[in-house]
Formats: sequence, C-alpha cells, structure tokens
Amino acid sequence: MKILTIETTCDETAAAVVTGDLEVLGSVVASQDKLHEAFQGVVPEIAARAHVERILPVIDQALQNSGVALDKLDAIAVANTPGLSGSLLVGVTAAKTLCLAASKPLIAINHLHAHVFACQLATKEPIFPCIGFIVSGGHTHLYRYETPLDGTYLGGTIDDAAGEAFDKVASMLGLPYPGGPHVSKVALDGDPKAFKFPRSFIRQDRLDFSFSGLKTAVRYAIAGPGNADVHVVELSRQQVADLAASFQQAVVDCLVTKSLQAVKQSGLSNLCVGGGVAANRVFRDQLTKACETESVNLHIAPLEYCTDNAVMGAIAVERFKEGLFETLDLDIAPGLIRM
Ligand code: KG4
Ligand code: ZN
Repeated sequence: MKILTIETTCDETAAAVVTGDLEVLGSVVASQDKLHEAFQGVVPEIAARAHVERILPVIDQALQNSGVALDKLDAIAVANTPGLSGSLLVGVTAAKTLCLAASKPLIAINHLHAHVFACQLATKEPIFPCIGFIVSGGHTHLYRYETPLDGTYLGGTIDDAAGEAFDKVASMLGLPYPGGPHVSKVALDGDPKAFKFPRSFIRQDRLDFSFSGLKTAVRYAIAGPGNADVHVVELSRQQVADLAASFQQAVVDCLVTKSLQAVKQSGLSNLCVGGGVAANRVFRDQLTKACETESVNLHIAPLEYCTDNAVMGAIAVERFKEGLFETLDLDIAPGLIRM
C-alpha cells in the first residue's frame, strides 16, 4: 500500500509517500519561517498564499523522491482539521483535485492525532492504547487513545499553547521566530531558578494548562507592570539567558506534571508525545527521567517528525485499513474537533 499524504494546516507545506508498513518513501517540507519572521508569528493570509505557490512543486518532489508515480498510489490523504482556514483549503483542494484526476480514494487526516501517531514511526512496538500529548504552536492537549483513530479529549490549555508562549517570550527577549529553538538555545547558559514564574494548576488534579499568566509574568520581570513596551528595556546576555531558562523550566514543569497525572488517572502505561515543543531538549530529558521513575513507557516523536510534516500523516494507513474514505465534498474543519 502506498499513500500520498499532504499537510498544509499552518505554515509548512509538506507532502510524503508512506507505505502500509509505515516506511517513508519520500518526504518534503517547505518551511515558511522566513516569510513570517518579521511578524514574530504566522500571518494567515501570507501562509495561505505561500501554500498556493508551493503545494504542487512540493507534491511533485515528494513523488519523485519516492519513485512512485501518481497512478501507482493507493490513496491520497490530507489534513483537513484543525488549522488555519486558508491554509487547510489549499491542501484539501489539491488532494481532492488529484483524487478526481487520478481516480484515487481520499482520506482525511486529523492533524492532532497525526502528531501523536508520529511516535509510532519510531518503533515497531504497538504504542496504543496510550495517553497522547500534543504540545505544539497551536495546541497543548491530552487525549486518551484506545486506538490511533479513537481519541477522547481529557484536557488542554485554556488559553495559549505552550509553543505560542515560547514564540511570544522569544519576541519579548528579542529572539527570532519561531522562538522555541532560540529560547532553548539561550537558556543553556541561564539559571532555571533565577526567576520564580507561575505554574498554573500544577497542584490540582485537572488536566488543564494555562500559559498566558506565565507570559505576563515574564513581561513584568522584564519591564514591570507599568511599561507597555518590553523592547525598550536593555537586557544583559545573562538576564536573557536567566529569563529564558526560568520560563522554559516553568513550562516544562507543567508539561511533565500534567502528562504524568493523565497517565496515572487513566491506568494506562503508555505515554506518546508529539508536536513542535516535543523537540525541546530539556522537556525530552526531564520527561524521560520522570517516566523512568514512574515506570511509564514513554514514546516521543522522532525529532524530525515533531514539527509539522507530512510523514505523520501515515495515520491515514489506519483509516485505509478501516475503509474510512471521504467523498469529494470533504470540507475543512478549522476549529478543534475534540475527538
Ligand atoms: O507542531 P508545530 O510545527 O506546529 C503546530 O502544529 O503548531 O509546532 C511549532 C511550535 C512553535 O511554536 C515552535 O516555537 C515550537 O513548536 N518549537 C519549540 C522547539 N522547536 C519548535 N518549542 C520549544 N523548544 C523547541 N526546541
Ligand atoms: Zn502541528
């Protein structure tokens, strides 16, 4: 079985060809980071227009790299939820057009479940049932999965996602977009205890997160409550490093504590983590240690499949096996479907 997978939910235009055995035959990711850098965040209109320019070359390249011709595919799959409307529309329209032209079945991908499924790409061991944890720029959500396609929402952020907090704090510290990797790099020279930042809900049983108060706390630590513009404050290299390290530690404490609480409450033993923030070294190391102590089987998505990519769309193989195909009136669903 060979499936072409397409991903355009946010600001990466990506396509891949994967087999029924989860072998990756070809994968292309065209990042738009440079286009959004000046705005310190994704501009939806720019993202959609860039997807339009890139989608066909990216699909072409993925097919060429994999050595599979369009007519030899068994299906075409596309992420249709959740994401930015304009971005989703480009991928979904491309997929439907190719399905119509080449008479191929169409498969819909839930981007969040795909982030968790990325963990299955690193191991032959079955990872389901599990607690699935998506920590990305748009989401910080915990699900209970009986199977890859059967996820029940347990809790998540009530305001910002963890990745978004990394991006906004990076901006306050004068670091480039996307902020996560830059914050974690400067944090290497910082003291994670230098600033006492809040860890929302950490002593409560609820499986929720909140990062907006933490963002404000970082802002006040830089400029104080009275000063609207953090960028006028000159920070030393060490202050930037200490702020970054203390912020990162507050986020990581919340992520580690809540994901382990979810595992404990569920009675399951597998924890699977995906999404861009899962690339964070401190998070990976501290979660690994905590899971060893608590005897939890941890699966973290391979580094290359943490940030958005089309390979994690291999979850489409599961839908193919179940005969879950879509008609050509498949629509986008930008908002989060809690399923
Ligand atoms: O999964 P992703 O590519 O997009 C969404 O689906 O949202 O995640 C992108 C997010 C960005 O906010 C980025 O700053 C964050 O992941 N990120 C990181 C790291 N690498 C990427 N955050 C913290 N540490 C990292 N090393
Ligand atoms: Zn994502």
